[in-house]
Amino acid sequence: MSETADDPDIPMSSQLVEGDNDVEGSLRPKSLRDFTGQPKVREQLDLVLSGAKQRGSAPDHILLSGPPGLGKTSLAMIIAGELGTSLRLTSGPALERPGDLAAMLSNLVEGDVLFIDEIHRISRPAEEMLYLAMEDFRVDVVVGKGPGATSIPLEIAPFTLVGATTRSGALTGPLRDRFGFTGHMDFYEPWELQSILARSARILGVSLQDDAGAEIARRSRGTPRIANRLLRRVRDYAEVRADGVVSLDIARAALAVYDVDDLGLDRLDRAVLQALVRSFNGGPVGAATLAVAVGEEPATVEEVCEPYLVRAGMLARTPRGRVATVTAWEHLGLVPPADTAIAGIAVRQKEETISLFDSDDL
Ligand SMILES: Nc1ncnc2c1ncn2[C@@H]1O[C@H](COP(=O)(O)OP(=O)(O)OP(=O)(O)O)[C@@H](O)[C@H]1O
Ligand SMILES: [Mg+2]
Repeated sequence: MSETADDPDIPMSSQLVEGDNDVEGSLRPKSLRDFTGQPKVREQLDLVLSGAKQRGSAPDHILLSGPPGLGKTSLAMIIAGELGTSLRLTSGPALERPGDLAAMLSNLVEGDVLFIDEIHRISRPAEEMLYLAMEDFRVDVVVGKGPGATSIPLEIAPFTLVGATTRSGALTGPLRDRFGFTGHMDFYEPWELQSILARSARILGVSLQDDAGAEIARRSRGTPRIANRLLRRVRDYAEVRADGVVSLDIARAALAVYDVDDLGLDRLDRAVLQALVRSFNGGPVGAATLAVAVGEEPATVEEVCEPYLVRAGMLARTPRGRVATVTAWEHLGLVPPADTAIAGIAVRQKEETISLFDSDDL
């Protein structure tokens, strides 16, 4: 492969992804084989890429959806790596004007992978330009304004678009339909995170004992980025307050310092549950109201906190609003009122019909 996002001089890398830094970069898996977990997405993607390679053509456009920190950006880099092509990085918010997108598209070389992070935040005019580019490898550039405006068709090189989104429900139908494959990423199992942690510890030169790795994995909210972050914090603790070896006791003590509770919930998760239970008597309460109660942006609460709270069986998204389950009350050390207990059970039964991540209409 010619370039990766780790190269210092990627010509069109307009934005590196938020939260990326050197350490995170060094911990990214570099190939599909290195990529732990997500067996379904890995197998599907392997087929898509192998098929395209056999035919000698660019693969279909790929959409990766799932909560933050599960490896969407890493997978996009792996896709370019496996295809042996260049990766061009940008993000939805950076493509405010269609002109920005046109410039980016017209610079693509045949076979390039164009990665658009947070693709659900792309502006409408840029999105419409993207339709044509994805389907016909062509864009229409409008020159001038008013009645004198003309549109000039511009050929672009066949490329593969990889879009990442934390809210596939926020994507318009026409855009979603133009992807040939969607990989739905889900939270990782503790043993998968444990093996990711063991690999990260090897790379960082941290001496991590097995039971300590299991403990950190269990408290990482099913998310590799959080697992790696906790590992670095636990390492600080082990080096400053002990002999550098991360044992179970050291891991537990360090996680207590950083306010990571027994289930891995952090301050914001707990604030959401506390507000839901104490201020709204367990709900139902609207997402926006709940966000105001904890002083956060609604998008942060919905995209960062809620997916894991839903997965952990503590919060349910219902058509009437957010509801705390019995488990949430108990986790906070409180006794749920009788009627809430009933709501909790009813909600749990309905859960299967309620989508985890695509609940923008709720
Ligand atoms: N399957 C995996 N194996 C090993 N490490 C992983 C895996 N998935 C993610 N990581 C680690 O987690 C970090 C975050 O992953 P990544 O940036 O790809 O997530 P993301 O889904 O793009 O998140 P966001 O939605 O916030 O952009 C990476 O730096 C990498 O170290
Ligand atoms: Mg990312």
